[in-house]
Amino acid sequence: MKILGVLGSPRRGGNSDILLDEALRGASEAGAEVEKIVLDKLQIRGCRDCKSCNNTGRCIQEDDMQQVLDKVLQSQGIIHSCPVYFYSMTAQMKAYLDRWCALYDEKWKFHNHYLPRLYGKNIAVITVCGDSDIKMAELAIDPFRKLVRAETNIFKWGGSLAVPSVDVKGEVQQNQKVLEKAYQLGWQMVEISK
Ligand SMILES: Cc1cc2nc3c(=O)[nH]c(=O)nc-3n(C[C@H](O)[C@H](O)[C@H](O)COP(=O)(O)O)c2cc1C
Repeated sequence: MKILGVLGSPRRGGNSDILLDEALRGASEAGAEVEKIVLDKLQIRGCRDCKSCNNTGRCIQEDDMQQVLDKVLQSQGIIHSCPVYFYSMTAQMKAYLDRWCALYDEKWKFHNHYLPRLYGKNIAVITVCGDSDIKMAELAIDPFRKLVRAETNIFKWGGSLAVPSVDVKGEVQQNQKVLEKAYQLGWQMVEISK
């Protein structure tokens, strides 16, 4: 079983990076093959709404997203990890998510040829933010939760972890309780993906 980690923060060694590593460690120790993608290292442009993919199932933009989508399709579970930037997810994570558009036809139904590799896929999200209000942290989780709800017969919710009150780079490393929660999220992803 393969679990993919997708990092939306540009800050390597930052809070969401540390928590994603912990989650992937949990998934690995539960028996999964794990892989991590750092979106900031890749060239992923935003969706141009040209609708070519509605017919072909492929984006016309020749950047790194095709290889990322291949990894998404090959994984049983995906753990996204992203800080809140201006009441939302980071631009890197948003560009990645918008490019999932290539999986859909003109009626916003998944292309048939992708369906076998989408059924039962677990989607989880870890998010951090500087604000002390957990509702702020949840803003970056919400779009993923809505996506899973909209595709309720296809995707499964793999869980979430929202961590408020973290701003200094890497400070989450001192919070054993939160690290343990991230580890458990990764472990759980493997259990529910079996
Ligand atoms: C451009 C930018 C926008 C941010 N916007 C918010 C925000 O709207 N709400 C908030 O609580 N924190 C905000 N933050 C703080 C980050 O969410 C916080 O520092 C987080 O720990 C960074 O995560 P990282 O270490 O994984 O990169 C922002 C930070 C940056 C750089």
